[in-house]
Amino acid sequence: MTEKPRIIDFRYVQDPRGGLAFSEIANELPFEVKRVYWISNMPHLQRRGGHAHRTETQLIICVQGSAKVKLTSSSGELLELELSAANQGLLIPPMWWGEMEFFDNAVLVGMSSHLFDEKDYIRNRSEFK
Ligand code: TYD
Repeated sequence: MTEKPRIIDFRYVQDPRGGLAFSEIANELPFEVKRVYWISNMPHLQRRGGHAHRTETQLIICVQGSAKVKLTSSSGELLELELSAANQGLLIPPMWWGEMEFFDNAVLVGMSSHLFDEKDYIRNRSEFK
């Protein structure tokens, strides 16, 4: 059975200087992070994603702005959620088709269990099903 995506709440300290979120990822994530990427300069309402990963697990955090995320399993299970807090990560196991829409100067940080490998992507929806 496909493992389910889930939200991970990180610790967060808010004071007049701003908000500080943090994670001891070596202890808090169920995978070893091999790669980090970040996406910025996105127009309001920008859509991205439109693919699944065969073996890669990812954690995504919308550190600024917000994102609507739609995840579909190969058996058709649909999960829709919003990421709008800098201390909230979304763990996405392999074999979930992800589509995202970004709002309000969103900045997304992603951490991955694997080095970049285009062969790990499924970009064709009918192949995914
Ligand atoms: P892509 O995964 O298609 O972006 P998104 O899922 O947000 O729509 O990646 C866009 C381009 O960047 C593509 O040519 C692959 C490249 N890329 C890397 O080389 N390394 C990486 O770690 C990532 C995430 C993307």
